[in-house]
Amino acid sequence: MEGAALTRRGLLVGIGAVGGAGAMYAAMGALGLAPSEQDKQFAAPRPGDFSLSGKGAAKVVILGAGVAGLTAAYELGKAGYDCTLLEAREKAGGRNLTLRGGDRLAELNGPAQDVRFGEGVYFNAGPGRIAPWMVTLDYCRELGIPIETFVNNNAAAYVNTNGRTVRARTARADMYGYIAELLAKATNVGALDRAISKADQETLLEFLRRFGDLGPKHRYEGSERRGFTKYPAIDTGTPLDAPGTLHQVLAAGTGRAITNDFGYEQATPMFQPVGGMDAIVTKLTEAVGRDRIRTGAKVTKITNLADGVEVAWEGGGLKADYCIAALPPHILAKIPHNLGAQVTTALGTPIPVAAGKIGLEYGRRWWELEDRIYGGVTETDLDITHIWYPSHGYHSERGVLVGYYNTERNAELYAALAPEDRRRRALTQGKKIHGDKYRQNLLSSVSIAWDRQPHIQGGWVRWPDFDSSFTFLQRPAGRVYFAGDWLTHLIAWQAGAMESARSVVTQLHQRVLQSA
Ligand code: PHE
Repeated sequence: MEGAALTRRGLLVGIGAVGGAGAMYAAMGALGLAPSEQDKQFAAPRPGDFSLSGKGAAKVVILGAGVAGLTAAYELGKAGYDCTLLEAREKAGGRNLTLRGGDRLAELNGPAQDVRFGEGVYFNAGPGRIAPWMVTLDYCRELGIPIETFVNNNAAAYVNTNGRTVRARTARADMYGYIAELLAKATNVGALDRAISKADQETLLEFLRRFGDLGPKHRYEGSERRGFTKYPAIDTGTPLDAPGTLHQVLAAGTGRAITNDFGYEQATPMFQPVGGMDAIVTKLTEAVGRDRIRTGAKVTKITNLADGVEVAWEGGGLKADYCIAALPPHILAKIPHNLGAQVTTALGTPIPVAAGKIGLEYGRRWWELEDRIYGGVTETDLDITHIWYPSHGYHSERGVLVGYYNTERNAELYAALAPEDRRRRALTQGKKIHGDKYRQNLLSSVSIAWDRQPHIQGGWVRWPDFDSSFTFLQRPAGRVYFAGDWLTHLIAWQAGAMESARSVVTQLHQRVLQSA
């Protein structure tokens, strides 16, 4: 058995070397190999894939020109599939939305906002940061989109919790310092004797001294890591006052705020496309072909047939061989279809999560000039949750702060306010951290409540648990495939949309190559 498998593998490697991954897939189909035996790496469909199988590229209708829909069209387009995208909104991109002066942002149950930013100023109203391991960066490279660092962790940014504001470096130094002291104390009174050897205790103590910058007798007595009121120059500088007691430091409640970037998703460095996140949309649209995207097309019916899929929208209809439904599940759930009750139930399972942001445009970069904050995020337990400082355009005249980026209840609270009241509230909160200058030199603002965005109606979704509905929708219902970040374990990331699109493209292409 194993010998036979190795021989087949050898043959496939040979075909792969000559004809590329696509030819290899086709040959795999001919050899009757199960998909599980294939390389896990994504291989884009290629025109040559069809020559061996005698099949031709199919016609595919894609519902939604967000990141998932665009990625699917882009990958299928590489092999010559005839894709049509139906987009209900005025513009492609979905939640990948960058706002600039002259844009108009509509809202359900609310007034439209005219964006009045100055030239060269932009605000990523949706996704804003990309982790280096994400497939999103591969697309940036492939599409020729320049990227730059997104400063997700800045020691000079603030932590504002329980009504007090300190620099992130100070909050961290104190918390790490006291934790190190406590653990050293436990070690030194023998509390760890049964857990680790004496030799290991020595190694641990040596690390704790570094981790907490501990003084003699393993006491935390403050540290230059906390920062200075005047930084060293030709003199030694003026350090900050001594830290509070352990009780005070714990009572400050900085825990969540200083661990935000510990996770694999938020760890530094992160990245952003130069000039705005929508460069990804622009480049994908160009590659797909603008003429393949029909905007303002609100889908009214999806009918799966034995030999294709019929899709109707307000003002038109078409028939294709396959359909990829790349809409949010709660939007898709409202469209009549004949895909069966299990699809309806599954689409109704994920719960939309509210998310909101406000862009505050200032005529003076006071956060750089006065606070010496160059990019990064201030974390707070106020309802604004975060303040983001721009990671580009340093020292230029204008700049946009993200004055709030919140979710769930806080997002719903701001969503319920009129745009002026959102701004007023955001300024009142931000002033608690930055003082009066937060209200000065403000030029304009625009706020987004994703749960009130037409045809989107949510920041992202949450699955109560990743149950059978989740895996069920990762497979096609007849000739209809489903795609989106909501069908991955990368929810609320463009990478999720892209990975999902790749999975669907792979499944669809194999089916076309293997179809009778
Ligand atoms: N991707 C979004 C962000 O970076 C939402 C998110 C936050 C997703 C944290 C996962 C973890 O803000």
